[in-house]
Amino acid sequence: MKIIRTKDYQHMSRQAANIISAQVILHPDSVLGLATGSSPIGVYEQLIEWYEKGDLDFSRVHTVNLDEYVGLAGDHPQSYRHFMDTHFFSRINICAKNTHIPDGTDDHEDYVCSAYDGLIRSLGGIDLQLLGLGPNGHIGFNEPGEYFMKGTHKVALTEATIQANKRFFASEAEVPRYAYTMGICDIMQADRVVMVVSGASKAAILKEAFFGPVTPHVPASILQLHKDFTLVADEEALGEVVL
Ligand code: GLP
Repeated sequence: MKIIRTKDYQHMSRQAANIISAQVILHPDSVLGLATGSSPIGVYEQLIEWYEKGDLDFSRVHTVNLDEYVGLAGDHPQSYRHFMDTHFFSRINICAKNTHIPDGTDDHEDYVCSAYDGLIRSLGGIDLQLLGLGPNGHIGFNEPGEYFMKGTHKVALTEATIQANKRFFASEAEVPRYAYTMGICDIMQADRVVMVVSGASKAAILKEAFFGPVTPHVPASILQLHKDFTLVADEEALGEVVL
């Protein structure tokens, strides 16, 4: 595990964007695993800026997103499809058909999940996976539990996640209770994993995840075992660990 300590959110975003841009420049046909949430927005902003300057070309890139709320269509303002289109895809030269996110409106759970894993395989796997860190240690929507879920699956969101994500919805009742998420195996099989973490509110869970035991009760902890994992975190997020 490599740790890049940054002074703030903007610096964190730039450092992570550097890693992703190097990937895209060296391998223009890369498969990027992408994440939603407030943590990666700055990374996308930085990549867009470099794209606009002419330094990046996404025309041959494919993307697979981590997760999607079950029941939300792609045009719902809180769907992750809408998030990605708005914050990233519509602002770079990626082909829409090369961007993949589980279909939250398809309730054929087994089909959606096995098709998504099949899709990742058919793309040759993920070259670089970008992650945020959930407040309870989740990655994607792999929630804390008794064991690590391997492949894409439908998950019941925990109360902690519903509480954390209700800020994006008009009311708590509107927060979807289920999501489709890539599994731990999908994430661990990525050649490279980069996680962005910012702010004092993540300091305790960051310490637990990366300086405590590997356990499914803190799903992100498994990344300690990844062969090429880089944690890009700001000073506040690293506030509880001594480096
Ligand atoms: C959601 C997403 C995760 C994300 C997490 C943290 O639950 N499913 O992929 O990492 O939120 O979000 P934030 O970066 O806003 O703290």
